[in-house]
Amino acid sequence: MSATFLFLLPFTIFSIFAAAQPGTSNISLGSSLYPNNSQWLSNSGQFAFGFYREGNDLAIGIWFEKIQPQTIIWTANRDVKLPSSEDVKLHLSGEGISVILQDKQGLSPLISNITESVAWASMLDSGNFVLYNSNAKIIWQSFDAPTDTILSGQRLLAGRNLVSSISATNHATGRFQLSMQHDGNLVLYPVNPISTTGQYAYWITGTYTAGDKVSLNLDHNGQLYLLNSTGFYIQNITNQTQLSDNHVYRLTIDSDGILRLYSHSLTQNDSWSIEYSSSSSKCDPLGLCGLNAYCVPIEEDPPCLCLPGFVFMDQGQKDLGCRRNFSMVDCANKNETRYSITDLDGLEWEDNPYSVLTLNETACKEDCLRDCACEGAVYKDNTCRKQRFPLGYGRTDETASTLVKIGIESSGTKTVSKGRNKQLQTDIIISSVAMLTFALIILAITGVVIYRYRVLGYKKIHSANGWFFEDVTLRSYTYVELEKATKGFTDEVGKGAFGTVYKGISNGRRE
Ligand SMILES: *[C@@H]1O[C@H](CO)[C@@H](O)[C@H](O)[C@H]1NC(C)=O
Ligand SMILES: *[C@@H]1O[C@H](CO)[C@@H](O)[C@H](O)[C@H]1NC(C)=O
Ligand SMILES: *[C@@H]1O[C@H](CO)[C@@H](O)[C@H](O)[C@H]1NC(C)=O
Ligand SMILES: *[C@@H]1O[C@H](CO)[C@@H](O)[C@H](O)[C@H]1NC(C)=O
Ligand SMILES: *[C@@H]1O[C@H](CO)[C@@H](O)[C@H](O)[C@H]1NC(C)=O
Ligand SMILES: *[C@@H]1O[C@H](CO)[C@@H](O)[C@H](O)[C@H]1NC(C)=O
Ligand SMILES: *[C@@H]1O[C@H](CO)[C@@H](O)[C@H](O)[C@H]1NC(C)=O
Ligand SMILES: *[C@@H]1O[C@H](CO)[C@@H](O)[C@H](O)[C@H]1NC(C)=O
Ligand SMILES: *[C@@H]1O[C@H](CO)[C@@H](O)[C@H](O)[C@H]1NC(C)=O
Ligand SMILES: *[C@@H]1O[C@H](CO)[C@@H](O)[C@H](O)[C@H]1NC(C)=O
Repeated sequence: MSATFLFLLPFTIFSIFAAAQPGTSNISLGSSLYPNNSQWLSNSGQFAFGFYREGNDLAIGIWFEKIQPQTIIWTANRDVKLPSSEDVKLHLSGEGISVILQDKQGLSPLISNITESVAWASMLDSGNFVLYNSNAKIIWQSFDAPTDTILSGQRLLAGRNLVSSISATNHATGRFQLSMQHDGNLVLYPVNPISTTGQYAYWITGTYTAGDKVSLNLDHNGQLYLLNSTGFYIQNITNQTQLSDNHVYRLTIDSDGILRLYSHSLTQNDSWSIEYSSSSSKCDPLGLCGLNAYCVPIEEDPPCLCLPGFVFMDQGQKDLGCRRNFSMVDCANKNETRYSITDLDGLEWEDNPYSVLTLNETACKEDCLRDCACEGAVYKDNTCRKQRFPLGYGRTDETASTLVKIGIESSGTKTVSKGRNKQLQTDIIISSVAMLTFALIILAITGVVIYRYRVLGYKKIHSANGWFFEDVTLRSYTYVELEKATKGFTDEVGKGAFGTVYKGISNGRRE
């Protein structure tokens, strides 16, 4: 019986879908939507336009209606908050679509820049929401204004971007963007006006000689490719999938900065599967962890750690970056013996030095310790670059070493008695022994956990402010080595996105 059901189900759903004629779901002038009857459906029922809720917030957008959970593919005015009251409605008129606040008599266009009179609207089965004039010409379509997703049949034209959402449940502007550039190159960048230059790219197609008007296309077979203005395939990013016809596709720049092509069966009740990912390492998106923080692939999501001596801005949101956990040097009152330098090998940052010196690593550390303005430096190729903080866009670089000045004792709290010192010392010895025992047990279990212990121990030592840890200064933590400790990341080392990408940028945007 269940076999019969499984056999029939595909046919039922498929026949509903196949019977659909695109463009027949006309929405006439004067139609309204309220948060309580929240949608205009496409003919097949696959797509819906209207109000949706994310937590307590109300938003207006387009989503896959038949796929559970509902997947948002477009959001109107994503950064403008709607009042959460029920007294709001959407109204279609000759001027377009307006949001009307009933109590305040407010009216604002949902879609601005409409110059012609609208005759009707339609939620098409392609997922495109369209406004027509009386000659059935398209005046406006959601496919021309994508947010973080494109669908089959949709293209991203030169000069346009997809911008990630803050999270899966908040579709406001997030932190990463996919740019279809006028030079023909398709590039992933962190969202930040000063960062859309080649050196911040973390993924590219390398098609920067293809010229203007190259477009990114996704077809109904799940093939993702670049076409030039005369219709030539410049690059196939994915091949056609081997899946049967009954699949829908979407290309989304996810909130973690990775571009993914997803497929979903129309005949089975399952979840989205990933057909393609721009990166295999979740640490590739540049700036993922925010300021003064760096990414370690095997950490929990978000995979972020603070620099030594720093703590998370928000313990609950570890990708917001870190702040210093001790007061920095008082220059008038300097006492270099109260600071030490910790190094993180294999880690490099956006370079923003206030001083560049030719020194070996030991001399670089000593120089930073003596210089009360120095909070940290990047050492690489016999060059000591003393950095302005905060540090941003941390990334792997085998040849670099990040040196961070650690406060042994903040200037305000130096009246600690010897007695308390001893007590603290005893505490630390006890906890160290405990930790060591713990480590030995864990050591026997798995290599990944070994690494975790080291990170944990590492954090503990520094949060104790390094009072007795002369050796701490000499201890190096190899970022690359940590990656190697985990299977699967080995390949990333040395050819991380940045290294590869940086070389490939052209058109004078390269530094
Ligand atoms: C949609 O409405 C317009 C205007 O009323 C009409 O011309 C058109 O034929 C309708 N389309 C369909 C598919 O019903
Ligand atoms: C939805 O709300 C509007 C205005 O608040 C009301 O006029 C309408 O009857 C409601 N519709 C349903 C189906 O509850
Ligand atoms: C407004 O519409 C014109 C013509 O369609 C277009 O060139 C322009 O880029 C649009 N502006 C915005 C802000 O969308
Ligand atoms: C598109 O690509 C083809 C093949 O590489 C090339 O012959 C043609 O000139 C290109 N068109 C433009 C407008 O660059
Ligand atoms: C890209 O895909 C298209 C369509 O599948 C195919 O015709 C073309 O040969 C492919 N081009 C390359 C360079 O693989
Ligand atoms: C597409 O398939 C061909 C032949 O199997 C293969 O050589 C090519 O690398 C594939 N391209 C992509 C983008 O996967
Ligand atoms: C599909 O799955 C959802 C949740 O997993 C369930 O609520 C629903 O009943 C399922 N539908 C069918 C047709 O099996
Ligand atoms: C530094 O961090 C430790 C542990 O996270 C905390 O106990 C201490 O209060 C912090 N110190 C400052 C100055 O924030
Ligand atoms: C510097 O700090 C250390 C440790 O707190 C202290 O023993 C020493 O007397 C201080 N020296 C000066 C010149 O303040
Ligand atoms: C580093 O440089 C200093 C001063 O230039 C020198 O005394 C020291 O021997 C060098 N250390 C190494 C390991 O080369």
